[in-house]
Formats: sequence, structure tokens, C-alpha cells
Amino acid sequence: MTKYVAVAGKGGVGKTTFTALLLRQLVENFKGKTILAVDADPNANLDEALGFTVESTISEMLEDTKDPKAIPEGMPKNVFVEYKLQQSLVESEYIDLLVMGGPQGPGCYCYPNDLLRKHLEDLGGNYDFVAVDTEAGLEHISRRTIPQIDIMFVISDSSARGIRSAGRVYELIKGLSSSVTEVYLVVTKTKEGHLESLKEEIDKTGLQLIGDIPLDPNVVSSDLAGSPLYDLPLDSPAVQAVQKIVERTFK
Ligand SMILES: Nc1ncnc2c1ncn2[C@@H]1O[C@H](COP(=O)(O)OP(=O)(O)OP(=O)(O)O)[C@@H](O)[C@H]1O
Ligand SMILES: [Mg+2]
Repeated sequence: MTKYVAVAGKGGVGKTTFTALLLRQLVENFKGKTILAVDADPNANLDEALGFTVESTISEMLEDTKDPKAIPEGMPKNVFVEYKLQQSLVESEYIDLLVMGGPQGPGCYCYPNDLLRKHLEDLGGNYDFVAVDTEAGLEHISRRTIPQIDIMFVISDSSARGIRSAGRVYELIKGLSSSVTEVYLVVTKTKEGHLESLKEEIDKTGLQLIGDIPLDPNVVSSDLAGSPLYDLPLDSPAVQAVQKIVERTFK
């Protein structure tokens, strides 16, 4: 059975950093299992965090199929669309990656949405884990492009405002028609004593705190250098923290 994992939270809190480190830990802890990473943020950068090169996003590929001249002569359109969707999957030894991309038309995912849902349903089922880096508005989740979510990590930075915002994301998740089985809070960029100071705010959200990721100088330098987070040293505080979270969550 495929386990669907999603990472949500407002802009800049550390979703992509967490997703990349989570993927690395899944590879480490579940050797031989297959993993699909999905970047559902219109402003995609999970590929960089993982050290992948992505030629085109799904939205771009589907946009190409709208031009009748682009379809090879004699090929039915649905076959062409299927071919294009398959082309958008980036494969590597441990992790495959699918990048959704942003809306191509004026603000609407409508055309590709049904196709995407079907594609993700078919594709996701081939993997042991599907991990999705979502955008703050939970667009793909509320539109049900992501077929199912077993574990949702709501990410907050280390601030009272961040925790309140995570609480609102939690309310949004609870209001969704698609069921999310387990929801956990992860507080990122923490320093000594931060969690104690935030305890009251965290309790108010009703979210279960599964762990925190300390402010990690290695993450900062990796960001400055533009190097993949996937290559952070094993003893990095952020890597160690994600390792603990994975051990608590995936038994
Ligand atoms: N544990 C950490 N220690 C130090 N810096 C961090 C940590 N986690 C995230 N950051 C930094 O915070 C910034 C935002 O992180 P990230 O890109 O992961 O957030 P995001 O939620 O995916 O943002 P967006 O909403 O723009 O996609 C980056 O500069 C990243 O390097
Ligand atoms: Mg991101």
C-alpha cells in the first residue's frame, strides 16, 4: 500500500527543506522501497534541494499538448497527453520526481486538474511512498489532485505568529472533504528555549508536536551556496532532527 505524505505550511517556513530531508531519511530507513517526490508548489524548488534537474513541469507539458500542431500526425490526443505526462517524470536511483508547476492560463488549473488527478492516482500506486511538498494555499489538496493523504506535516517557523498560522492550516485541513489521517506539527529554525516559549500557542492549535528542527548553520550555508540540501552532512542538526521525526512517525 502506498503511503501518501504531504508537507504544508505558510510561505518560507521551511517546507521544502523539511521535504528534502524527509525524502533523504526515507531512502535511508526504507532501503529498497520506492519513493515518488511531488513538488506541488507553483514556485517549485524541491528539485534544487534534491539536486535534480527538471526540464519542464507537468503544467508546461500539458500546455504544449493544447497546440494541435504539436501533436504528431496520426497520434490521438489522449495518447500524446499520456506520453507528455510520462516525459515529465524525472527518475533517479532512489527517488523519482514530478513537478506540477503553476497555472498556465489566467489563474486556472482547471484543464489539467482532472488529468493530473488521474495521472497521480495511477502513478502514485506504483510507489511505496509519495511525498508532496505543497504550496501554502493547499490548492492541490483542496482540488483533490493529490488522491489521498496518510500523514500531513504542518510546518511552522519558530514564532507565535507562525504557530497561529499553522493552526489555521490545520483548520483548513479539517475542513477538507478528502480525509487526512494523521496530522503533525513540526516547528523549524528553533533555538534553545523556543519550544517552551511557544508551548501555550502550540497547545491552542490542537496540533500534535512531533518534533522541531533547530536553526542549522549547515542549512544556511547550503542555501547561500545553492548546493543541494540532500548533501548535508549526516551530523547536521537538521538531518538528525528529521531522522528522529521519521522514526517517531513511520513505524
Ligand atoms: N532548520 C533550518 N535552519 C536554517 N535555515 C533554515 C532551516 N529551515 C529552513 N531554513 C531556511 O529558511 C528559508 C525558507 O526555507 P524553505 O525554502 O524550505 O521554506 P518553504 O516553506 O519551502 O518556502 P516557500 O513557501 O517559499 O516554498 C530558506 O532560506 C532555508 O534555507
Ligand atoms: Mg518551498
